[in-house]
Parts: sequence; structure tokens; C-alpha cells
Amino acid sequence: MATKQEAVEAKQGLSYDVTNGVAVITVDQPGAPVNTLSPEVGTAFSDLLVQAERDPEVKAVVFISGKKDNFVAGANIDFLQTLKTPADVEAISRGAHEQFDRLESFSKPVVAAIHGACLGGGLEWVLACHYRIVTDSPKSVVGLPETQLGLIPGAGGTQRLPALIGAEAALDLILTGKNVKPSKAKKLGIVDEVVPVPMLKDIALKRAVELAAGTLKVERSHQGFKAVAQSGKKKGIAGIFQGLINKDLWKEAALEDNPLGRKVMFDQAKKQLLKKTRGKYPAQEKALQVIRVGLESGRKAGLDAEAKAFGELVFTDVSRRLVEIFFATTALKKENGTANPNLKPREVKKVGVLGGGLMGGGIAYVAGVLQGVPVRVKDRDDAGAGRALKQVQTVLDERVKRRSLTRLESNAKLSNITAGTDYSGFKSVDLVIEAVFEDLKLKHQVIAEVEAVTGENTIFASNTSSLPIGELAKGSKRPSQVIGMHYFSPVHKMPLLEIITHPGTAEWVTATCVDVGKKQGKTVIVVNDGPGFYTSRILAPYMNEAAYLLAEGADIVQLDKALVDFGFPVGPITLLDEVGIDVAQKVGPIMEAAFGKRMAAPKALEGVVSDGRLGRKTNKGFYLYENGKKKEVDPQVYLLLPHGKDRKSLEASEMAERVALQMVNEAIRCLGEGILRNARDGDVGAIFGLGFPPFLGGPFRYADALGPANLLRKLEHYQDKYGERFTPAPLLVEKVRAGKGFYES
Ligand code: NAI
Repeated sequence: MATKQEAVEAKQGLSYDVTNGVAVITVDQPGAPVNTLSPEVGTAFSDLLVQAERDPEVKAVVFISGKKDNFVAGANIDFLQTLKTPADVEAISRGAHEQFDRLESFSKPVVAAIHGACLGGGLEWVLACHYRIVTDSPKSVVGLPETQLGLIPGAGGTQRLPALIGAEAALDLILTGKNVKPSKAKKLGIVDEVVPVPMLKDIALKRAVELAAGTLKVERSHQGFKAVAQSGKKKGIAGIFQGLINKDLWKEAALEDNPLGRKVMFDQAKKQLLKKTRGKYPAQEKALQVIRVGLESGRKAGLDAEAKAFGELVFTDVSRRLVEIFFATTALKKENGTANPNLKPREVKKVGVLGGGLMGGGIAYVAGVLQGVPVRVKDRDDAGAGRALKQVQTVLDERVKRRSLTRLESNAKLSNITAGTDYSGFKSVDLVIEAVFEDLKLKHQVIAEVEAVTGENTIFASNTSSLPIGELAKGSKRPSQVIGMHYFSPVHKMPLLEIITHPGTAEWVTATCVDVGKKQGKTVIVVNDGPGFYTSRILAPYMNEAAYLLAEGADIVQLDKALVDFGFPVGPITLLDEVGIDVAQKVGPIMEAAFGKRMAAPKALEGVVSDGRLGRKTNKGFYLYENGKKKEVDPQVYLLLPHGKDRKSLEASEMAERVALQMVNEAIRCLGEGILRNARDGDVGAIFGLGFPPFLGGPFRYADALGPANLLRKLEHYQDKYGERFTPAPLLVEKVRAGKGFYES
């Protein structure tokens, strides 16, 4: 094989060599864990194309990454943040358009050989190439996640993707920002071939030669209407936009090519979008609009609209907040949860789970399937043990149905998890996660039982939602190995894991549990001990305030709608039905005992519980349920509440503010008391654990955006009206006095 090493200086991590008449351009940015797209990289790439153009020996080009498991992860967000005006950003977008237009119309075929994440600007880059090959590795994903950062694709993605795969499938990907795996990408028509990892470069070289010789011809009529985009896992922010595209609406393929049909389609899509986003996420609306311009007025007009919208969006508060969350979660991924960054976690080779109920079953799934270690579940009875296995099976079945796993793979994963009613198999576990009933005495009992059958170094983690970990540790012979691992329900879907350390928890224990959480796919925050820790504690006054509003005569639907309009995924009364009204009622006295009268739950709910209404699980709560599906409010429930059926129309914005500010104020108390290590963890915890509106950036970003002085005034106003439960957090008063925000020390 003739290989000619060209004397080209590697600029921006791009290198160039020629093999058998094919120029191979490799991107491997030095010192960076992943490749990113910036104007300089784009220019360096264009320069190499010029070189390939001039070289008569070169017949085709292959574009590949030199990183082990990454192609191009996206545009360089740090760089975008340094730009000062929308016009600056717009100019960058136009520059990328020019470079990628040149790539698309390049005289020799360009084959993209993709292994690893090919996202955002990375995907836009390869969309301008002539042929795309991706490896079948689980590391390989493609997608345009910009809307998750409050942006739209700005390097031609809003135009090239719909042109390639059709508007329906492209909208589904762009509006949700989700990633797709190689097989899905092929089905949608985003890539042309899926190949095994070791063969990527050879096949790319071969295809390049075939394309240049004309023996391989690519005929693309977009497949968007045949292959409907279906999501894989939708976690975190992507989940918010789930189901945005109504498939029935788009079924008529003819619609897309017919202007009147197209108008109907886009008008309907906008309506659905607004119903979902309530106008809080401008990037999605802009994406829809820009794609529409391209379809109606052509590529040039579409690119113009894209550049302009991209420039504007970078400077919106929503995008700033979403980018901050992205940075926060990225930073958390690199931390080990302790003050010592060099501390290495210990290896967890086997996990024991106590309690096979709702939470235990979910924990068995994330440990056995996602973390991928053998799991032994112990319940007090066969029914509980069976329930855990059934729950794991149900989640696996869903994945098989979605084709994210084959039946064979699913069976193999299930065989990793066994269950029983005694402690057999616990001798060799490195970590026990406990999810038995919420009862301190019972938890002490199981700690003693576990310690009698496990090794000296076994960690005992409790999934308690409210009991202080220090209290649990009092029942242990090895208190330094006792920690809290607080999961959220449903465990396989909720992205947060809140880890709670008590003052005696050993650092290696914390680092090990943080590592386990990450391997289970969670965003992990570490907080200090106290009743309700962080998330349960800030949820309590939020729920209490909603109950106070009910007691004042609020209408259930109006109250729920007020908080959904504020940006929460569901209203507080719907949430109460989900969590279990009895469960919420039990937390009340614990919180009141710990924090005094300001945390007292109103008596309004007592009648509801004694009527046997526990929420969804009993098919009867504030709402009616049919086969587990929420229906309308049960009018009878009002008879159990003060004011009966005579509901008052309270002002929506005030209802939302009262309820939300309770959460914000309590979060500030948690920071002031050292429960939280910093504001960032508080924001991440509230968003990923409790659904605090991401576009507001979390309680602390929200407080800073309102202005601490303004927030203080609001709380004082409500304190005058409703008493001590609105007493402003001492740290808020301090911040106002110092004229500082929560992200300033
Ligand atoms: P659950 O009632 O669904 O499950 C509890 C399981 O523990 C039952 O299967 C029961 O048979 C088993 N069990 C009781 N005593 C046992 C023993 N001595 N040995 C082994 N197994 C025993 O309860 P759920 O909802 O799963 O809650 C479990 C824990 O997780 C509680 O501490 C709860 O506060 C906490 N939690 C619950 C959340 C939720 O949304 N339900 C969220 C976060 C934490």
C-alpha cells in the first residue's frame, strides 16, 4: 500500500496523509479529552481540503477522529460564551455555513468515518460530507443536542438534517435534542453504513475509492416518512420534550411537499410545542420556525434564518441557565464527592439490595443492568423477592420492545440479578443498599443483620428518604462505612442520586458510592446529613404550601396548572397523588419535630387520608384514576377539605410564587446550614431530583436572577401575610446585606 506522508503541519489537531490516492484528514485536538468544533478548526479543515483539491494524486477524502472513543462532541461552548454580541455569534454561524457549503460542494468525495460521539457541530460537519459510516460501538451516538442548551444547530444542521431525513424525523431529533444509536441513525438515513470498530478506516478508504471511481453511487430520497424517529432513553432535560411530535399528524407524506399541507403541519406542530413548553423554551420555537423557512423558501433563506436565530439565542437567559446546568453536571462527572481529588474509589464487584419493593427493585435494575455487577436482593418474604425480579424484568421488556436490547441480551442481564429471603450471597458483597420500610428501628435491625454476614469492608448505604444517616450509623459497628444513597422514583428513569454523608463517613466510602452512582448513569450530588437532607427537605415546605392553598379554598386544577405554568413538570397535587398522600403525611411530623412550627403541615389532608385516599396506588386520591391513568379531579374530595365544593379562584401567579418560593427559601437555608456544599449542587439537585424548572437554572440561579433583595422583599411580604413559615433564610438576609449573589463568595 502506497502511503505518502504529506509535509503538512498539524494545525488545530488536524493531520493529513495520503493513502492509495485517498487523503485522510484526522482530527485529534491536543490536550483535550474530546474534539470540538470552533472557527479555527473549521478553517484548518478547509485549508486541508484545498490541499486535497490541488493534489492530482488525491481522488477522495476520508475524515476521521484520532481520539479513542470520540468523534466530535460538538461546538466549543466555552468559546461561544466568550462572544459579546448576537452579531458576533451570527458571523461565526455564517462562517461555518460557508465552510460546510464548500465541503458539501467539494469536487472529490468526502467520507466521514465516525466512531464515538458525533454531536451538534460534529454532526453538522459530517452532514456536509458525501458519505457517512459509523461504528456499531455503544460509544457511537449521533444527535443535535443544541436545544437542550437553549440553542439551535448553527452550522447548517437545521437545513441539512431535514433535507436528508425529512422534516418529521429531523424535528423530532432537533426539538428534543436526543441522541440516536448507530442502528437508528442508519434506519433514519442519517448515516449510510454501520460497521464494526476495527474495520472503520479500511471500509471508509474503500468507499472513498469506490465513490471516486463511480462504482458506488449514493441515491438518497429522504426516508423521514418511512423511518419514524423513536427515542431511546430520554433522561433529564430531553425528557421534558418527549412526545413533542404527534406522529399521526405527519403521516401523510404528501403533506410535506405541498405548501398548504405544510402550513397545517407546522401550525399544528407549533401548537403542540407551545402546549409542552408553555413558551418557556424559545430555542424549540426558533428551530421549528427556521426549519420551516428552509422548507418554504430554500436553503439560503433557511441558513440566513438559522444564523440570525442562533445569534439571538446565545444571549437569552434561558440558554445561559441551560448552559450553566450543562457545565455543572459536567463538573460533577469529574468530581469524586470528597475534598481530596486524588482519592480513588474502591472497586464494587457485587451489590446486595435489601427490600424488593418499589425502590429496591429499581435499585437492583440500575446496579445489575447499568452498573453491570452481580446483584443479590433480600426481602422478608417471597412476594417481595419476586416483586424485585418482576420489576427488573418489566424495565428490560420495555427496552426489548424499544429495540434498545435484544431478548438474548435482556436475559443475560436479568441473570445478573437473583433474589431470596435470607442473606445467602451477601458474604461477598462490597456494597449493600437498603430500601426496607421507612422505620429507624427496622433499619437498625437490618444494619446489625448485614454486619453479621458481610466482610469488614462492606459499605452500608441507606435509601431512606428522611431519616438522618447519623442516626442510622448509631446502630452500626462500622459507622464510617454507613452512608445515604437517596434514589428517586422511578429509579430507572430519574437522573439524580443524592448521596448523604454523616460526619463520621469515611472519604473512601463516599468516593466509592459516587463512582457507583455514576456507573449507574446518575448525576450525583453529595450533601451533608440532616432531616430530609436536601431534596426531601426543600420538597416538604413546597408541598405544605400547596396544602395551605387547598385549605384556603384553592381549586385543585387551577393550583396544579399554576405550578405547571411556572415550569414544573407536574403540579403539586398531582405529585402528592403520585408520591402517596399517606407518605407525605408521615414526613410532616418528622420535619416539624426537626425544624419547628414553620414546617408544620396543615391539617387539611387528614380527612383525605382517613377517607382511604392514598393517591394513584389506591386509584383514589385528589384525582380519579382509571387503570392507573389520571382522570379528572374527584369532586367528592372537596367535601373532605375546608370550604367544601365552594372553591375560590385564587390568583395563579401568586399561588405559583408562594409554593415555589418555599422551595427556594428552604434551599437557601440548606446552603446556610452547610447541608449543601455549594449553590451549584443545590441547583442540580432541585432540577434533576424534583423537576425545578431547568430554564430558571435551579433555586439559586433563580434567586440570583430575581435579585436577592427582591426575593427578600417578596418573602417579607408573604411573612406579613402568612406568618413564620415565610421567614427569610438567614443566609438570604446576609447576602442582601453584603450585596452578593449565591454564586459569589
Ligand atoms: P416498599 O414498601 O415498596 O418496599 C419495602 C420492601 O421492604 C418490601 O418489599 C418489604 O417486604 C421489604 N422489607 C421489609 N422489611 C424487610 C426486612 N427486614 N428485610 C428485607 N426486606 C424487608 O417501599 P419503597 O417505596 O420501596 O421504600 C423503601 C425505602 O426507600 C424507604 O426507606 C423509603 O423512604 C425510601 N424511598 C422511597 C421513595 C419512593 O418514592 N417510594 C423515594 C426515595 C426513597
